[in-house]
Amino acid sequence: MSITLLAIESSCDDTSAAVLRDGEVLSNCVANQEAHRLYGGVVPEVASRAHQVNIIPVVDLALKDAGVDKSELSAIAFTRGPGLLGSLIVGVSFAKALGLSLNIPLIEVHHMQAHILAHFAEDPKPAFPFLCLTVSGGHTQIVQVNSPFDMAVLGQTIDDAAGEAFDKTGKMLGLPYPSGPVIDQLAQKGTPKFDFPEPRIPGLDFSFSGLKTAILYYLQKQVRAEPDFVKDNLNDICASVQERIVTILLKKLRKASRQTGIKEIAIAGGVSANSGLRAGLKAMGGKEGWNTYIPAFEYCTDNAGMIAVAAYYKYLNGDFTSQSVQPAARLPQ
Ligand code: KG4
Ligand code: ZN
Repeated sequence: MSITLLAIESSCDDTSAAVLRDGEVLSNCVANQEAHRLYGGVVPEVASRAHQVNIIPVVDLALKDAGVDKSELSAIAFTRGPGLLGSLIVGVSFAKALGLSLNIPLIEVHHMQAHILAHFAEDPKPAFPFLCLTVSGGHTQIVQVNSPFDMAVLGQTIDDAAGEAFDKTGKMLGLPYPSGPVIDQLAQKGTPKFDFPEPRIPGLDFSFSGLKTAILYYLQKQVRAEPDFVKDNLNDICASVQERIVTILLKKLRKASRQTGIKEIAIAGGVSANSGLRAGLKAMGGKEGWNTYIPAFEYCTDNAGMIAVAAYYKYLNGDFTSQSVQPAARLPQ
């Protein structure tokens, strides 16, 4: 009998639903929330209200795209955390209600583990053990992945996440939220000619808040001397910021690979959509003799397809969740 899963992701500002059958993602639908652009960041209250509006149409679309009727579902998977509590509540409550009405089990999924397991949605798939640099709006981690659910965090940010560094710099530059993709686009037209400082953080941990402050002070100083500095140099500023963030990430990844001897290297999370990081990883991989794995764009940013893939492994292990489950804003890896 085939295994058919519906997965729901609502941890931040995107409402997503996906259908998977026997390990293959049949549909992966995402409703973005444009409202946050007005505020320059995600407003939790606005996000949960929009999830409430979007969730039924997105689930209907995912089932329709997959050509699956809900009576065929074997289980409902959902993101339990980490994320914004008000956003998670919408997805978790929806999954519980649908599971109850169809009398099928629930499967809770850890959002960050799902970002990593997104690599198993399509070929080529990394071999275990592999290292995964997980870079999103809320996380920056180097994870050693020994099996689908045996993961060890080797290093992580002590302050801002890499995505936050992109988004907060974008805000200083007057760019719309989320700024990561916008900076990426502009950087491709610029030259990294401004030298922003590289933090000295021991071990495999990261820090981005000092970089953010350095960029702010530099821009303020330049603008005092030349009011149009940002406008006149926007592409070069973006290229410089992106290059610095990418080198910080890749140098730590290289250190982790040399320390562990692992040469299967993957990246995951929203920032793995960044063209500079993707190109830089391939270049470093060539020099270091790595096999590198970069997910397709649709599996980089938040999506329910990755939740479905993680849930499939749990289904095969018989790892189900009771109806009394609560969402968790913080959830250790
Ligand atoms: O994984 P994700 O969709 O959501 C979280 O779980 O946080 O990541 C969102 C983050 C945002 O900070 C966004 O600016 C960043 O990923 N991002 C990018 C790019 N696309 C998305 N950052 C740099 N370059 C991109 N192309
Ligand atoms: Zn995410």
